[in-house]
Amino acid sequence: MNIDFANLKLAYQTHQEAFEKAMQKVLTNAAYIMGPEIEELEHELSTFTGTEYAISCSSGTDALLLAMMALDIQPGDEIITTPFTFIATAETIALLGAKPVFVDIDKDTYNIDPPQIEAKITAKTKAIIPVSLYGQVSDMDEVNAIAKKHNLSVIEDAAQSFGATYKGKKSCNLSSLACTSFFPAKPMGCFGDGGAVFTNNKDLAEKIKSLRVHGQTKRYTHKYIGLGGRLDTLQAAVLLVKLKHYEEDVKMRQQVAERYHDLLKDVLPTPIVKEHNTSVWAQYSIRVASRDLVQQKLKEKGIPTAVHYPTPLHLQECFGYLGYKMGDFPVSEEVSAEIMSLPMNPYLSQDEQNYITEELKKLL
Ligand SMILES: Cc1ncc(COP(=O)(O)O)c(C=O)c1O
Repeated sequence: MNIDFANLKLAYQTHQEAFEKAMQKVLTNAAYIMGPEIEELEHELSTFTGTEYAISCSSGTDALLLAMMALDIQPGDEIITTPFTFIATAETIALLGAKPVFVDIDKDTYNIDPPQIEAKITAKTKAIIPVSLYGQVSDMDEVNAIAKKHNLSVIEDAAQSFGATYKGKKSCNLSSLACTSFFPAKPMGCFGDGGAVFTNNKDLAEKIKSLRVHGQTKRYTHKYIGLGGRLDTLQAAVLLVKLKHYEEDVKMRQQVAERYHDLLKDVLPTPIVKEHNTSVWAQYSIRVASRDLVQQKLKEKGIPTAVHYPTPLHLQECFGYLGYKMGDFPVSEEVSAEIMSLPMNPYLSQDEQNYITEELKKLL
């Protein structure tokens, strides 16, 4: 068997006609930049998440940058986040001249561990970025309570959790600001780069709209230093089709995760989703001791795997200037040495999952 990790080809084929019709309309109208599909998508995104405002943009990375620029993050400011995330979370903090301050993760969910946050707050702290890793939201009530006490903003890095719920409320509608990614392999991916920022604050929404078009308030009038951060109309058209089927896709991902759980629960600890959460399963990640060997053997059997993420950010060369060392965040370090993601997409069949788990069990 040859397993496809994210099966983007099948995702395209499943709604091919609708995708092609939507893209053809954009091509015919030639409104490539800020065409009518952008506003339509933003309306649908805010309806879906329940947020007042959804502002589409060029990527999840730019969404983070725009959110922090809207908060007027300045050089020297400190932003708290976790080292067990994709580089973009902390990279964007550093790009603004601010300082990423790391807090270790919870050993069950791999999300920021709220009890450890307060000790890292200083007079320079401006915001907390909890990352909703693998499709599950952090403990937002606890994070928000700490933020409120210290007058900080909270930006949910919801790049992997669009559509997930926390205590019945949607990810992206749980904090001052939230950012998601429509990178192709994300649960709701487009056919290139894309992202969005969400907020219920009108002033922040207006500033973000301006920032994503070079800080413009009207043509060639620039109130802020901004960026070229718009979403392409073509990607908005694709996402409008995706969004129509997204709840169904999420259910299918959840069924795949349940089947993995049933097939693996007797041989290894399966991922933990907190009772008050639903996950969109951006990844189905397990822990294996001899990861390199297991990955190699599975590859030989036509089973692709991935590692999200092999090196926690405090040990990345680019963050050497922050002065962290091995041992500073033991949970992140331990998890990154063992974590391994199995193929995950809505179309993974029972037969494929039987095959994947049988081959995996032989190696444990
Ligand atoms: C946690 C997290 N934050 C931010 C990003 C950045 O998103 P993008 O790739 O759309 O720029 C990603 C994407 O991989 C991510 O996983």
